[in-house]
Amino acid sequence: MHHVLQHPLSSHVLTHLRDRTTKPATFRTLSHQVGLLLALEATKDLPTKDVAIETPLEPMQAPILAQSLVVVPILRAGLGMLQPYTDLFPSVSVGYVGMERDHDTAEARSYYCKLPPLEGRRVLCVDPMLATGGSAIQALNVIKEAGATDLRLVTILSSPEGVSALESAHPDVPLITAAVDRELNDQSYIMPGLGDFGDRLYGT
Ligand code: PRP
Ligand code: URA
Repeated sequence: MHHVLQHPLSSHVLTHLRDRTTKPATFRTLSHQVGLLLALEATKDLPTKDVAIETPLEPMQAPILAQSLVVVPILRAGLGMLQPYTDLFPSVSVGYVGMERDHDTAEARSYYCKLPPLEGRRVLCVDPMLATGGSAIQALNVIKEAGATDLRLVTILSSPEGVSALESAHPDVPLITAAVDRELNDQSYIMPGLGDFGDRLYGT
């Protein structure tokens, strides 16, 4: 259950994100741009309900959003994908899950969690990179334990290994991603990838 975003602007932005000469300020702008395209894709089936309004010319029944949204960025790199949701969705709530990969073993460790009520709401967990899948799988475990049932994962780059791991661990969670790359290297980096997203986003 994974969906790869098909949009020429997304491909264009991704190319500049991958480019090693792209500096952090531009990298942040590009992350916001592809994050916005992904946010639209991940929410295009949100339910609506009709309400009565009056235009300047006549009364009408018109649709408004019927389900509220929770976005959960995985710290720290997921913060680079947050702003499109807070810009677009008037009543969005934001939760946070902190996960960090050990540099030697690539195993994810949870260091923070703060979530709003999740029952009955569309929950989008956002993290730019799905590499081994360890961080996302653990974050989704935590989010499910907190009560989420309508849950999706949104990433910018994914590896085939991460997609398989996610589909085994959470077959009920659709993945929306901008690209699935070739493979992981022996340090569990996505190839050809874009390097360490968090470091490039924050210039560390
Ligand atoms: C990166 C990325 C994901 C994770 C993906 O975070 O943002 O959370 O790696 O790798 P995985 O699928 O193998 O778990 P990192 O651990 O580098 O932390 P950061 O966001 O603080 O930079
Ligand atoms: N995390 C990153 O930031 N990049 C990768 O390629 C893999 C994990």
